[in-house]
Amino acid sequence: MSPGTDSGGRRVAVVTGASSGIGEALARRLTADGWHCVLVARREERLRELSGALGCEYEVCDVSDREAVGRAAAAIVARHPAVHLLVNNAGIPGRATFITATPEQINAVTGVNYLGGVWMLRALLPALERATPSSVVNVASVAGTVAVPTSGPYSASKAAQIAFSRAVCAELKPTGIKVLTVMPGFVETEGFPQRGFLPGLLSKAVVDPDYIAQKILKGIASGRRELITPGWYRLATIGQWLMPWLVYRIVSTRFMLSRDSF
Ligand SMILES: NC(=O)c1ccc[n+]([C@@H]2O[C@H](COP(=O)([O-])OP(=O)(O)OC[C@H]3O[C@@H](n4cnc5c(N)ncnc54)[C@H](OP(=O)(O)O)[C@@H]3O)[C@@H](O)[C@H]2O)c1
Repeated sequence: MSPGTDSGGRRVAVVTGASSGIGEALARRLTADGWHCVLVARREERLRELSGALGCEYEVCDVSDREAVGRAAAAIVARHPAVHLLVNNAGIPGRATFITATPEQINAVTGVNYLGGVWMLRALLPALERATPSSVVNVASVAGTVAVPTSGPYSASKAAQIAFSRAVCAELKPTGIKVLTVMPGFVETEGFPQRGFLPGLLSKAVVDPDYIAQKILKGIASGRRELITPGWYRLATIGQWLMPWLVYRIVSTRFMLSRDSF
């Protein structure tokens, strides 16, 4: 835990998975836009450095540990009774199939990518209610809409996260808390080094975390409920619904089955 800082009247944002990648980019953009951020992740050294640079706060917390989430949320709410934005972004790759993954790997992707956001939202709900109109952003993935066999447990965790996000979007409507489900395509980050992993032309479609951070901020400002970004990934999602046989043929080719997983 970092020493509490006064938000100085600024809106308060809690960003999970803020020690690198999309979460870090978002924390930088939010701070530049005048938000006061509370960064959440496990690597304290990273959080200390970034929060020092941004003049914000941090909480060390494993979001898959429900009790740890409760403790972190209580510490945040003690300093900031009203939270205007929660970004559930913490996530890990699966890097295995449903057949090859260990039970621990399957538990871990489910616990972090899906349940982490559920525990965080429940723990911070009173603070979000105090701040209405407030927002929740759940960073899911296009992989939650199209299942890739080499990353089955990861896809399943993201599909569950999308269902969670859509359900609470409707449930929380009367409270004045807006929920945005974000489904990014390939993004180059520490946990997901896509450029080295994707073949030829596909690697050119990889974007940087700041691109996604900008899109998320625009999505919050315009009150969107869902965001697939970059937009052309909608083709994959639509293809899955309209032509599941074609997607099946593509993902079960020898080429696709021989790819590494994420
Ligand atoms: N990169 C992509 O291609 C891509 C595409 C679609 C969606 N996404 C999603 O985007 C989100 C951010 O990922 P990223 O690409 O920015 O990767 P990243 O740079 O590896 O960031 C992941 C963040 O999550 C944190 N984290 C991991 N496990 C955690 C845990 N148990 N408790 C708390 N924090 C935890 C990490 O920090 P610590 O290690 O310090 O805990 C890190 O800050 C993830 O949900 C990912 O699934 C990524």
